Amino acid sequence: MVPEQQLRAYVDYLRDMGIYDLYHRDDPKILLPDSLREKLAAATQPPVAAAAPALRSSAAPSSNPRPPALTPAARQSSPALSVPPPEFTSPMPKPPSFDTLAPLPSKIVPAADRVAALEAVRAEIGDCTRCPLAYAGRHTIVFADGDPNARLMFVGEGPGADEDASGLPFVGKAGQLLNNMIAAMGLKREEVYIANIVKCRPPGNRAPEFVEATTCSQFLLKQIDIVHPQVIVALGATAATYLLGVKQSLASLRGQWHTARGAKVAVTYHPAFLLRDPRQKGEAWKDLQRVMAEMGLTPPPRNS
Ligand code: URA
Repeated sequence: MVPEQQLRAYVDYLRDMGIYDLYHRDDPKILLPDSLREKLAAATQPPVAAAAPALRSSAAPSSNPRPPALTPAARQSSPALSVPPPEFTSPMPKPPSFDTLAPLPSKIVPAADRVAALEAVRAEIGDCTRCPLAYAGRHTIVFADGDPNARLMFVGEGPGADEDASGLPFVGKAGQLLNNMIAAMGLKREEVYIANIVKCRPPGNRAPEFVEATTCSQFLLKQIDIVHPQVIVALGATAATYLLGVKQSLASLRGQWHTARGAKVAVTYHPAFLLRDPRQKGEAWKDLQRVMAEMGLTPPPRNS
């Protein structure tokens, strides 16, 4: 793995665990291995502008290609560098929960009307340009997949490349694992409803930004109100964060029931995280077993 990919994998891993504010890496409360703390420090070091080669050391390049940090005096002497580097001082705000975004509906949409009601939400979204993701290389708006009358809904983070190409959520590798998880619960994919926090692919498969997620929430909220599931499974920290309006680690959210839009919400690992760290599959299965118990589902008999 090239260093960039390795770093990206670390960042994804931490994000899945609900650690957002990586620029708070010096916070002693965030327990990171020293090696990772150093990698993050190197990656978030402000770059030296290419326009100021004279400020770089003329000594032979060392094995560490990162140039030394500039002194304030050196920075002052170059117009190109007189603009201070961005300072990431404000952490991601705590988002509003789906329950505080809008009052709960006074009436449940009758089962027979749900397809049309969901089509109306899709029509309202249109060729959406409400948030920056519209201009970030998206090809398709990924609305949802599954049964409009499902008792069980899965909410992920946002489309990846496969979903962006096909227009359906969870069809790539993570989707195959989600299909297996659904089958292990004794259900078919067509019997559940699957959607995401954002409907457009974030570039480079990064997590949706606060403004993207909170702009898109209004539509997922309507979908939940129409489908009216008994249980929602939040897949990963992003889904849990925005559905519940919390900023907590995944570990602290698993193993207990939450609520959103009248549904019970269980939090578990995102399938993409489980692909990266298959050792956690057993823990995810515990979460799904709690969901099954709540819904009175029994697993299919194992093939011997
Ligand atoms: N990951 C998600 O969170 N959603 C998808 O639809 C695909 C991958």
